[in-house]
Amino acid sequence: MKILLVGSGGREHALAKLLFNSALKPRLFVLADYVNPGLKREAEASGGKLYTGDTVNPLEVARIADLVSPDIIVVGPEEPQFTGVVDVLREKGYSVFGALSKTSMIERSKVFARTLMWKHSIPGRLYFKAFKNLEEAYEYLKHAGDVVLKPARQAGGKGVRVIRDTRAYLTSDKTDVKIQAASKIFDELSRYQDIEYKIIIEQRVEGVEYTAQVITDGSSILPLPLVQDNPHAFEGDLGPETGGMGGISGPGFLLPFITSDEFNTTIDIIQKVLRALEVEVGEKYTGVIAGQMMLTPIQGPTVIEFYSRFGDPEIGCLIPRIESDFLEIIERTVSGRLAGAKLEVKDNVVSIVKAVAPVGYPSSRKEALGHPVSINEKAINELGCIVLYASVEEVGSVLYTKGSRVFEIVCYGENYNEVYKRSLIALTHIESLDGWPLFYRRDIGSPEQINERIKLAEKARQTYTYRASRGLVNESIVWIPGKGVVENMLFSTLTSSRGGFE
Ligand SMILES: Nc1ncnc2c1ncn2[C@@H]1O[C@H](COP(=O)(O)OP(=O)(O)O)[C@@H](O)[C@H]1O
Ligand SMILES: [Mg+2]
Repeated sequence: MKILLVGSGGREHALAKLLFNSALKPRLFVLADYVNPGLKREAEASGGKLYTGDTVNPLEVARIADLVSPDIIVVGPEEPQFTGVVDVLREKGYSVFGALSKTSMIERSKVFARTLMWKHSIPGRLYFKAFKNLEEAYEYLKHAGDVVLKPARQAGGKGVRVIRDTRAYLTSDKTDVKIQAASKIFDELSRYQDIEYKIIIEQRVEGVEYTAQVITDGSSILPLPLVQDNPHAFEGDLGPETGGMGGISGPGFLLPFITSDEFNTTIDIIQKVLRALEVEVGEKYTGVIAGQMMLTPIQGPTVIEFYSRFGDPEIGCLIPRIESDFLEIIERTVSGRLAGAKLEVKDNVVSIVKAVAPVGYPSSRKEALGHPVSINEKAINELGCIVLYASVEEVGSVLYTKGSRVFEIVCYGENYNEVYKRSLIALTHIESLDGWPLFYRRDIGSPEQINERIKLAEKARQTYTYRASRGLVNESIVWIPGKGVVENMLFSTLTSSRGGFE
């Protein structure tokens, strides 16, 4: 069987490993934007080949597909989905795992996703308001309070500003910060022509984040084990948002801080979204959808955003945990035979992924680009850990950073404490060769971090279960000096955003 994998980074390297392990012994062909050494090696070891080319250009991808003539094509990242790569390949008759341009709107447009949830009364939704122009956003921000500002389009995991604003005496300073953040988002998004709304301002919530990934053939669903991603750049969940600095998974389908009821509620939300999406866009969703969730005190499982692809580092966390033949699942998905498929998971194996990035990432990727690095993969493997090559290119025999997360180290074993210790040793085998510093998050997967999350989740759980028992899910009351108590005041104008789609 021949597989063509489209995409260049750590997620695709994780997928290549999962596919390579299949009893079906596939030959892997890869189309990547650059020579990712991990992907190249995986392809060549299977008797396939890595091609380089423009992965977001549907015609170019189709040309490589015609050259390879694969049995299945797996489209890894979101951007090729947005530009219609999956649509073109399906029209040509290929079996493709990945979302169509229309269905990938669930990730591409945060306004679309939020509007869909309101229109179909799907639980886990937040109040929001979206703007097409800066002036209206400014006006609104003057009174917006405790909010999150986001680019309305998926922009490679950057640009989101969470602005805690709960103290009235700081409000004018905070308003300035919000206005600056808003103009930055408008500047950033001016390069995208594929959206109408530019910024989304939404209710800020607090809680514990986790990701639920669900594979679907359009009729049946197959949930994967939960993973916790750590989007912040620095320890203690500080610093700018990144594509994800690491994650943990297990035991079983849950996390140490998420209950099976919360897991089921989350899957139910995703299933409702899939049904609503099919109604709205008139196409069945096939591939994988992921809910980036937060367990919040106000309503329990709450949607932060959706991905129309596997999460990264989420899928890396699952490499050592999935027992079933992954390719067989992909094959059943693209041929509409997912009904009855069961995902066997190594229940007692937990995993920790840690990403390593050059200093400069994520805010100044130019500075983070072009630094030579070395990795002693053999030593890391001897520790029982797996290396994923991400934003790193091989030129000659030297590895150079591409500006984002360079490597992801996946360690696994029977308990978090032991796996955590091993992951720290594994990280000592990565080096910068020009003195440019590399960083990772030491806290990810540590007993302290996990205990902290257990406590936070328990607090959220006590509050949301109490609120649910009183019929107060997502109700909020705001007190404004001079005005008194106003229910959901900040977002009361939102009804207008709930109607149509962009
Ligand atoms: N409404 C919200 N309240 C609090 N924090 C949020 C909210 N929305 C997003 N965040 C934080 O910002 C991060 C990035 O936001 P997200 O919507 O996932 O955008 P992206 O991943 O595309 O940058 C989230 O992982 C979460 O930590
Ligand atoms: Mg996100």
